[in-house]
Amino acid sequence: MPELEVQPTGLLYEGKAKSVYTTADQNELLVVYRDDMTAFNGGKHDIIANKGHLNARACKLFMTMLEEAGVATHFIRMVSETSMLVRKLHMIPLEIIVRNIAAGSLIVRYPFVEGQPLEPPTVTFDYKSDERGDPMIIPEFILALGIATAEELTLMRKTALQINTILKAFFDQSGIMLVDFKLEFGRSNGAIYLGDEISMDSMRLWDKETHESFDKDVYRLGKGDVIHAYTTLLDRILPLERRSS
Ligand code: ATP
Ligand code: TYD
Repeated sequence: MPELEVQPTGLLYEGKAKSVYTTADQNELLVVYRDDMTAFNGGKHDIIANKGHLNARACKLFMTMLEEAGVATHFIRMVSETSMLVRKLHMIPLEIIVRNIAAGSLIVRYPFVEGQPLEPPTVTFDYKSDERGDPMIIPEFILALGIATAEELTLMRKTALQINTILKAFFDQSGIMLVDFKLEFGRSNGAIYLGDEISMDSMRLWDKETHESFDKDVYRLGKGDVIHAYTTLLDRILPLERRSS
């Protein structure tokens, strides 16, 4: 790792796409976005140059935009092109999936047609467990397992829909549809914060006219050059960055 202004003091967690380090401040972590790209729960894996940088750049944009709209996020600031300082959270082992348009696992598991609008948008929960294949989980099971309280569930659902409204309107300005995305939340000092990342790895984004993908599906489904897709997306949305803030 190049010399950073914030020095990591230990490796806390090495995930499939990011490495998380402790810092001298016990309340702050350094998250490094690596060039690893994975799909199908790690079944497909490649190192793709520049991918970490592109996702970190996108995540900074979305986290900053959400903070400005009043969403509590873990983001503190960028430390390098591929790393950011974040608030340390006790992560809640749930993936909150918001969908505006049917795609991905939804059309495999249920008789939705790809591209079918979901009105109103749906919010569902997956239980984060690699050994169990991240199964979809109903709120009653979340409560029974003590994963989150009823108040926390209500807040996560409400915040997820608020984030959807903000991001959907943002992408719409550049002719892009926010099809679906995944969020993770965590706790710190009794409050709930948005954690992990929002990037092209965790969303589906389609051109409004052509339905061309600008997200991880390009890699998942071998639909072309994923770096070209991610760069094209950033070229379309970054000019809007200042106007949105
Ligand atoms: P998955 O793709 O299922 O999330 P992963 O563990 O391989 O698996 P990575 O994104 O590579 O995912 O790793 C990042 C890890 O850091 C995740 O486990 C995520 O929950 C955790 N994390 C993200 N933000 C924070 C935070 N602010 N505090 C503590 N842990 C965090
Ligand atoms: P979903 O259609 O449930 O799964 P898949 O991507 O396997 O077809 O995904 C919905 C959205 O959530 C999509 O934008 C990808 C994102 N997502 C993640 O980022 N990580 C995950 O582990 C899952 C299941 C989804």
